[in-house]
Amino acid sequence: MEKVFTEYGIDTVVHFAAESHVDRSILGPEAFIRTNVLGTYTLLDVARKAWGNRGDVLFHHVSTDEVFGSLGDSGYFTESTPYDPRSPYSASKASSDHLVKAYYHTYGLPITLSNCSNNYGPYQFPEKLIPLMILNMLEGKPLPVYGDGRNIRDWVYVEDHNEAVWSIMNKGRAGETYNIGGENEWENIVLLDRLIEITAEESGKDPGSFKALVTYVKDRPGHDRRYAIDCSKLKTELGWKQRFSFDEGLRKTVRWYLDNQIWCSHVRSGEYRNWIEKNYESRGV
Ligand code: TYD
Repeated sequence: MEKVFTEYGIDTVVHFAAESHVDRSILGPEAFIRTNVLGTYTLLDVARKAWGNRGDVLFHHVSTDEVFGSLGDSGYFTESTPYDPRSPYSASKASSDHLVKAYYHTYGLPITLSNCSNNYGPYQFPEKLIPLMILNMLEGKPLPVYGDGRNIRDWVYVEDHNEAVWSIMNKGRAGETYNIGGENEWENIVLLDRLIEITAEESGKDPGSFKALVTYVKDRPGHDRRYAIDCSKLKTELGWKQRFSFDEGLRKTVRWYLDNQIWCSHVRSGEYRNWIEKNYESRGV
C-alpha cells in the first residue's frame, strides 16, 4: 500500500473493500476482523503517513446501516443513532467506522463516512438475497426464506448508492457521516413475490414453477428484524436523490443476471460451493 501511494500519487481513497455477508461472518468471523478492521486500519495509516498535513486529500469510508442494530416496527436510523452492532459482520464494520472517525479527531485526516442500506444490482455476489434468488430460480433450486420471511430491509439500487458516494466526495463536509437509503422498505417475502414475477416475465418461464421453489428454512441467528434509513441529511445538504424505482432496478438486475451467465458460473465455482453447502446445512435445507 505504501508503494501504491507513493508510485501513483494517490490523493483520494474510496474504501469500499470489505467482507460483507452476515451469514459468512457467522460461519467464519476471522476474515471479517482481518479484512474489515485490520484492512481499514492499514489503509488509514498508510494514508496518514503519505499525506501528512495535506488538506487537499480525502479518505471516504463506505459502511453499512447494520452498525445501528435492529429497528422495531417504527423509527429510522439517523446519523446520530447510537451504534449497536449484533453480528460479527456489523461489529467489524462498526469497529472500522470508529477507527475512521478516530483518525479524523486524532490526526486530522480528512475523512467522510457513509452508512448505506441494502444494495442490489449488477455484479452483486450471489450470496446476497436478490442475486441468490434469481440464480436459484433459473436453476430450479430451492428459494430459502429465513424464519417467517417478515424481516424488513430498505433497498437501494447500486447506481444510486454510487452517486451518493460521489456527491459526498465532492460536496460533503470533512469529518461528517451521511446516511444513504432507498426509502424503499420491503418484507423479504413480499420482495420475493415481486422478484418471482419479474424473473418469470424476463425469462419467459411460468411464475408458478418459481413459487413452488419457495422454502422456509431455519432462521439466521440474531437476525435483525428491520433496517430503515433516514437519508434527509444527504438529500437536503447535498441535493442527492434516488433515480431508480424498485421495479425498474429489479428488472435491470434480473436482465443483467440473465445476460451474464458466464460471470455467474465463474463466481459460483470453487470456494462458493463449499460456502453455500455449509450455509444450507446449518439451515437444514
Ligand atoms: P442479505 O442479502 O444477506 O442482507 P442483510 O442480511 O445484510 O440485510 O439478506 C437480506 C434479507 O434476506 C435478510 O433479512 C436475510 C434474508 N435472506 C433470506 O431469507 N434467505 C437467504 O437465502 C438470504 C441470503 C437472505
